[in-house]
Amino acid sequence: MSENWSVWRTKPLRSLFAETERSGLTKNLGALDLVALGIGAIIGTGVFVLTGVAASQYAGPGLVLSFVLAGIAAGLAALAYAELASTIPVAGSAYTYTYAVLGEFVAWLVGWNLMLEYMVAAGAVAIGWGAYIVELLRSVGILLPLALVNSPLAGGIINLPAMAIAALITLLVVRGLQQTRTINKMVVLIKLAVIILFLVMGVRFIDPANWSPFLPFGPLGVVQGAAIIFFAYIGFDAVATAAEESRKPQRDLPIGIIGSLVIATGLYILVTIVLTGLVPYTQLNTASPVATALLRAGIPLGGSIVAVGALAGITSVLLVMLYAQSRIFFAMSRDGLLPGIFARVHPRFRTPYVSILVVGVVVMFTAGFVPINIVAQLANIGTLSAFVIVSIGVLVLRRTRPDLPRTFKTPGMPWTPLAAIAFSGYLILNLPPLTWVRFAVWMIVGVLVYFLYSYRRSKLSPAGAPPGWRILIAAPTAKPGPRIGDKDKGE
Ligand code: ALA
Repeated sequence: MSENWSVWRTKPLRSLFAETERSGLTKNLGALDLVALGIGAIIGTGVFVLTGVAASQYAGPGLVLSFVLAGIAAGLAALAYAELASTIPVAGSAYTYTYAVLGEFVAWLVGWNLMLEYMVAAGAVAIGWGAYIVELLRSVGILLPLALVNSPLAGGIINLPAMAIAALITLLVVRGLQQTRTINKMVVLIKLAVIILFLVMGVRFIDPANWSPFLPFGPLGVVQGAAIIFFAYIGFDAVATAAEESRKPQRDLPIGIIGSLVIATGLYILVTIVLTGLVPYTQLNTASPVATALLRAGIPLGGSIVAVGALAGITSVLLVMLYAQSRIFFAMSRDGLLPGIFARVHPRFRTPYVSILVVGVVVMFTAGFVPINIVAQLANIGTLSAFVIVSIGVLVLRRTRPDLPRTFKTPGMPWTPLAAIAFSGYLILNLPPLTWVRFAVWMIVGVLVYFLYSYRRSKLSPAGAPPGWRILIAAPTAKPGPRIGDKDKGE
């Protein structure tokens, strides 16, 4: 074991595999469950809400090209994820892979970015849910006070519906995966049904005149639209966080990751074509564009059904995001990089409830007080940078451990991961500079936390402090943290 003071120390693969064996989680997810988990995580606020902003302010009817571009970036990264997931099927997703391949410091940065991805994205998803409920209530004549359904920067005081749904889903996730999964599957079916309904009803009302001009904001608008709409693809990697609950992870994780992404991409492209054909893109600047488009095209009943389905669909995204983030906290805490309390398992529900509650509270406050575009862009930059690191990880692991069994191999090596890095990097460059600044601040805080806490508390740290560190922080504890499946020791 590489027990040393280097920030590049790696977590030995054999200890990762041993943890999986011991995790105590029930291994009963099959390929179809994983595809459902992926669709549950992917299709939500991105397509139901952000298409409006992206079409009306950035890409126009050319939004379909933005979806293709963002889909390519996500697809290339998915291939890299699938290889790592099939090689190292352990909870924690990109964070865990990186720990084994690129070392602790990079793993910490990935974990820190995944917090942006899941926690911040969950905030955006809750805001999207709030937008749909407000629109739905308005359509039946109930007007909620604007000050209570918008965050301060969006012209209100607090976004209460978004906070309420975040609180509700948090409690649901605390209660455990069993219920969560059943609900998720039902919701996925509803979500797919309303999208198909939207396509079938909408296609007859398309007016091709709405597609021109096709690129009102030029090609740059398409790329900027892709950088925003990339949000719609976030979530397929959540499949990898269920690795320890999968029956045949090596075979089924790649199926879950790639299968759900392919289905989502196909639906997104069709939805965008119909959406921009139904009404002029200038009319899509609403919080519930998919329902509004049907309404404006003269199909009000369709609009209401789609709005209800969208609410259900967005709910499942929130569910998976909260679940995935709590598992990443759990994995980081198990490694000693976060306080042990995050790995505390509920005695009855057997879920990492402290992680879930902490994540839930952060999501509630994000949803209540920050506007959706700021939150979505931050989530995008966090995810895209995690994709870059995962793609580098695949390249490195092929060189350092060519011997490992890989049931799924990224095709077109080394070009596929290189292209994933290029596409993700390009989208990052097309996000607003203010997002880079916010991201930089987040990273600086992350580096400080690592060096002031995690570096010394890591399970890979030898007991005792390195020279020069003793005065800064108390000596690390070498005590192992609890695991999922352990009885809560109440420490
Ligand atoms: N992809 C997820 C959504 O669009 C985060 O809601």
